[in-house]
Amino acid sequence: MSATLPGTVLDVFEERMLDVWERGRFEVSDPQGTARLIHLLLEREGFTTTASVLAESGIRSQWNRVLAEERSNFLASWLRPYLEAPVLDVLGGDFSVLRALVTAGLPADGVVGCERLHAYEVDWAAQPFLVHDVAAEVALPQGPFRSLLVSAVLHHEPDPGRLLDAAARTGAGRWVVVENCVDESNTDAFHRYVDEFFNRCLNTFDVPCVDQHRTATQWRELLGGFGRVVHEETRADVPGMPFPYTLLVVDR
Ligand SMILES: C[S@@+](CC[C@H](N)C(=O)[O-])C[C@H]1O[C@@H](n2cnc3c(N)ncnc32)[C@H](O)[C@@H]1O
Repeated sequence: MSATLPGTVLDVFEERMLDVWERGRFEVSDPQGTARLIHLLLEREGFTTTASVLAESGIRSQWNRVLAEERSNFLASWLRPYLEAPVLDVLGGDFSVLRALVTAGLPADGVVGCERLHAYEVDWAAQPFLVHDVAAEVALPQGPFRSLLVSAVLHHEPDPGRLLDAAARTGAGRWVVVENCVDESNTDAFHRYVDEFFNRCLNTFDVPCVDQHRTATQWRELLGGFGRVVHEETRADVPGMPFPYTLLVVDR
């Protein structure tokens, strides 16, 4: 599959790997040469071989540590001012962001997480807050909640509108949405490639990636059907991420 990709996606990815490793202070000997090698491996051998090389070189564990710790702390300090308890973290993944938000000052008894059962190998009982299962028909826990956090989730949903309908049914007055958006430097093909790379080379998330990436304007328009977008901001320095994140705050 990767062999048929246009060269430009892997060219961009090679540059972004270097950026991620530098910002994350990864210990990689000869970063330029290694990024070039990963590029060539992805192009010629595909994800499985590349995943082994990333694991053996220690890059995979360094990248996952940056995602679990530095990305979560970064998001917590960026998003904290927009969130008022009680908060529901919609599809919180491994809940590292919600844990960081509790460390950043949200009360543990004022936050709730939810995720699809078995999606992540995380012990829900060990979290300092309650975690609920999200059933296949996307029924979200009913609060009451003042704020919802929807971080890096919508573009993974086969039908993002269905998740937003479920969000609307919680009655929360504020949604804090984070998305990696399509723009001139970050094409739809690039986002789709990185989604696959993360799931096949950095973790083993065995759910197909869907084609739901949008531009910030398109997300604003979709979210605008549910409320008023009161704040929008893009950050290109999110630890571990090879593309920018855009924050959209919606008041309803
Ligand atoms: C990148 S995680 C974000 C988790 C958390 N909100 C955060 O920001 O750390 C993406 C979310 O989308 C869901 N998802 C659905 N399909 C997916 C896929 N193919 N790859 C990754 N995540 C997927 C996961 O269950 C997870 O909740």
